[in-house]
Amino acid sequence: MRPPPADRLRNVEEAALDSSYLSLGNRRTESVHEFYRYPARFSPELAASIIDAFSEPGDLVMDPFVGGGTTAVEAQRLGRRGVVADLNPIATFVTRAKTARYRQVELREAADVVERFHEALTLSRRPKGQEHWQDLGYWRNVSTSTTWRIRRTIELALDLVSTMRWRRSRLLVRCGLLRTAQWALDMREEVPAVGEFRRQLIGNLHSMIEVAQDADRSSAELRVVDRGLPELAHYPAVKAAGPPRLVLTSPPYPGVYVNYHRWKVQGRRETPAPFWVTGSRDGHGLSHYTLGARADKSLDTYFARLTSAFEGLVSIMGDESWLIQIVGFSDPTNQVPRYLAAMEALGLNEVSLSSGLRREASGSGAIFLSAVGGCRPALWATSLPTQLARSCSATERQRDLRLDAFVEGTDRVKCG
Ligand SMILES: C[S@@+](CC[C@H](N)C(=O)[O-])C[C@H]1O[C@@H](n2cnc3c(N)ncnc32)[C@H](O)[C@@H]1O
Repeated sequence: MRPPPADRLRNVEEAALDSSYLSLGNRRTESVHEFYRYPARFSPELAASIIDAFSEPGDLVMDPFVGGGTTAVEAQRLGRRGVVADLNPIATFVTRAKTARYRQVELREAADVVERFHEALTLSRRPKGQEHWQDLGYWRNVSTSTTWRIRRTIELALDLVSTMRWRRSRLLVRCGLLRTAQWALDMREEVPAVGEFRRQLIGNLHSMIEVAQDADRSSAELRVVDRGLPELAHYPAVKAAGPPRLVLTSPPYPGVYVNYHRWKVQGRRETPAPFWVTGSRDGHGLSHYTLGARADKSLDTYFARLTSAFEGLVSIMGDESWLIQIVGFSDPTNQVPRYLAAMEALGLNEVSLSSGLRREASGSGAIFLSAVGGCRPALWATSLPTQLARSCSATERQRDLRLDAFVEGTDRVKCG
């Protein structure tokens, strides 16, 4: 396989080393990426540069651990076909909300409902139709003396959402609720007053409707699949799509515990309320979403599940597929070699393609470009001896470049 042109690789390096995306510049606040701040998401600029370097318009791009949908949004914007998936229904919900092609009539309906929020979201009204979520346990820690008003306001809003006609209008308004509820409840000491919450909700939805109207999208097809690896490999739409040109992804990190499926009310008490707001079900613990990262300190469970997931992924990939992973490590010295060994055992060999350190894929040795300790590495590129694939139809697999890039959402990430 040919490496991408040097100038495109340089763009990848620059995007990986550039931390300016952490500031809220124009593009960030006004893009669909801001529809929801999924934990441990990677930078849109980095995703875009990788997609641009490793695929062409019309190619198939895949992200089997899609999280908040960064790959999906950027692939769609750049005219690549996409198949993305996640086993967390909050992730697929958010990805659908960010990538939907909203029609005018749907955006108008969303705007009409937002108008009604001004007077409908008052605590004197009695909500109806949401209480079964309490029986199912999804209101844990949102029924306290400080949080019940916010919860009641969300109930009233969801009652209105249930009267809406169009599926995509409901998706957008629910996503605005999810975003605003996260802002109000997750990882902050003070829960805002209900009036402030209502104003924020209406403001968020106004800007989301505007962004959805102007969103820069190609007509390339995108499929969002509610399945995890390895099962995803047997999903008919995935088989039908054929091997991707590029897999750009970020699996759960070893020894790093991220709450993908909960909010931490007042920074401490976990709530499964995001499932309620998105209208989906959980029923699984943290280890379900983190490849068992927290379950055992030896990380044996993590690596066993990572291997099984990637076995599925390798079976989807073809000889001409690139796999680019962005991974955070809590203990790079010990975890990186183990991670690479797990990949190599699957026939995935790391190749260094960065322009400054270009080496033939057959070169050996590790090149350390730049890394900051803890779970915040910057860019890291190594080259390892090329090996022939152990299994699968492919005879040669020199197709992964690993970039450990600074990940966002570190406020919710704990190094273990
Ligand atoms: C680091 S996050 C991905 C973040 C994403 N790159 C973004 O920009 O938002 C990892 C994701 O993997 C998902 N996940 C964990 N185990 C999975 C599995 N076996 N199959 C598919 N997704 C899984 C989690 O639910 C989580 O959304």
